[in-house]
Amino acid sequence: MDSSADFLTWSLCLVLFLALWQPQGAQGTQTVPGLGINWGSQVSHPLNPYIMVNLLKDNGFTKVKLFEADSWTVSAFSGTNIEVMVGIPNVLLAHLADNSKHAENWVKNNLTKHLDGGGVNIRYVAVGNEAFLESYNGSYIKTTFPAMVNVQKALEKAGLGDKVKVVTPLNADVYRSPSNLPSHGDFRDDIYDEMKKILQFLSEKNSPFVVNIYPFLNLHQSIDFPEGFAFFNTGTKTIQDNNLQYTNVFDANFDTLVWALKKAGHSDLKIMVGEVGWPTDGAQYANPSDAEKFYKGLLKQMANKKGTPLRPGVIDIYLFSVSDEDLKSIAPGNFERHWGIFRYDGKPKFAIDFSGQGVDKMPLGAKGVQYQDRQWCVVNPDLKNQSTLGRALDYACGGADCTSLGFFSSCADLSVVGNASFAFNQYFQVRDQSVEACDFWGLGTIVKEDPSNGTCFFPIEIVSSGRRLHKLTGFLIGCLLMFVTFM
Ligand SMILES: *[C@@H]1O[C@H](CO)[C@@H](O)[C@H](O)[C@H]1NC(C)=O
Ligand SMILES: *[C@@H]1O[C@H](CO)[C@@H](O)[C@H](O)[C@H]1NC(C)=O
Ligand SMILES: *[C@@H]1O[C@H](CO)[C@@H](O)[C@H](O)[C@H]1NC(C)=O
Ligand SMILES: *[C@@H]1O[C@H](CO)[C@@H](O)[C@H](O)[C@H]1NC(C)=O
Ligand SMILES: *[C@@H]1O[C@H](CO)[C@@H](O)[C@H](O)[C@H]1NC(C)=O
Repeated sequence: MDSSADFLTWSLCLVLFLALWQPQGAQGTQTVPGLGINWGSQVSHPLNPYIMVNLLKDNGFTKVKLFEADSWTVSAFSGTNIEVMVGIPNVLLAHLADNSKHAENWVKNNLTKHLDGGGVNIRYVAVGNEAFLESYNGSYIKTTFPAMVNVQKALEKAGLGDKVKVVTPLNADVYRSPSNLPSHGDFRDDIYDEMKKILQFLSEKNSPFVVNIYPFLNLHQSIDFPEGFAFFNTGTKTIQDNNLQYTNVFDANFDTLVWALKKAGHSDLKIMVGEVGWPTDGAQYANPSDAEKFYKGLLKQMANKKGTPLRPGVIDIYLFSVSDEDLKSIAPGNFERHWGIFRYDGKPKFAIDFSGQGVDKMPLGAKGVQYQDRQWCVVNPDLKNQSTLGRALDYACGGADCTSLGFFSSCADLSVVGNASFAFNQYFQVRDQSVEACDFWGLGTIVKEDPSNGTCFFPIEIVSSGRRLHKLTGFLIGCLLMFVTFM
């Protein structure tokens, strides 16, 4: 190992050490009962899993939901007691449905080692994610249920049938109510037969129905949606359904599902909310203060153990999500990369009290994060002729995340030059600040002074943990020595 690699190993190790080390008594408070959080991984520069796990622990989380079963990520939960839901991406459904051997291999390669002596508390496998979403044009309708069955059989064969439950998180678009009254709720016609099989399966295995509910999307997608109804206890609109009154769309949506289940003959199936959240950029209403307001209402309702009119009591809910994801598809809208309660670097964006007591304070941020150099790429201030900036901006945005530019976004008020600078910097940072990535035909220049302007934040990228995977072995040995020395 050369000396620079050696230095890198030791500094990473120090980071890890700082991330894991906690003074006695510094443990975070408990979250409100039933609370979990999603951790998505579609990012160019992932945080070190150990730093992320510590962030979750510091904030009192005891449940996490992942979208994959990446080995390094899952093993970071070893010995933590955090309940883990791992995911199987939709692209694997056909493969797993096709042959029970494939499912056995999946379980063997991705689950067994973490459970048998691996010390990870895996409790759920999410087979597919929103597989019946209408925008998928039916691509996964025929394979989801058979994949669930094969994964279940594989779990039983591996002796994990009692410990790990098979679920399939579905978007709330699998049911609807033509009148918007919850009591008129029913499952979509095109998936009704598959839904019946899935419901029967969940019922037999005593597994929950996992649904993703997004009040933000109700507000975003329909111009005449009453704003207050997307939040909690704002008292602007109510829906009267027989003898029940609804004051927010979350409850109404949830109870629409309760009715749909009842009509399908499964009224006592447990329901878990797999995703609910509010984005902070990229669209109208997508901002930190609306997100803060939404979560405050939701967490307070959870703390009251109020449940919904048809399902009073504690409801298990996973927030979406822990941090921003700069590689997510923006087909749904620019907001799609900004669902994080924390930024890309694990810094909190707004006040949120996960205990549901409504205390006005920032959550605890990530510790031990390593940043790249303190520098940015902007439009050269000596530039006289701006006519080529548009082309350079398009080029930069073609290879980086520009979802903060444009209408209703945090960088909407920039000048033409500011716009291009933002795009240049995004491009430069995501390429690990390589000097060539700030050229732009001579239009770009590297500066040491923070160009952030008002709400428009110019980030400095973190050192990606993903790039270090190949150094893992040396790294672990180095770390082990360090732990032995210091703990
Ligand atoms: C899980 O197992 C499958 C099948 O053995 C394998 O192809 C895949 O790479 C594994 N890892 C993840 C993260 O799914
Ligand atoms: C679904 O169909 C639409 C319209 O035909 C198409 O634009 C889209 O790419 C399709 N999506 C998928 C996931 O196949
Ligand atoms: C700016 O540059 C463009 C393209 O090189 C050129 O066509 C235009 O005349 C220049 N404008 C001025 C004011 O120099
Ligand atoms: C900045 O860029 C965005 C996205 O390309 C665009 O919508 C906006 O109009 C631009 N603003 C200015 C002042 O050029
Ligand atoms: C900074 O923001 C102000 C107001 O939002 C705007 O007028 C100005 O043009 C911005 N500067 C740049 C370089 O975009």
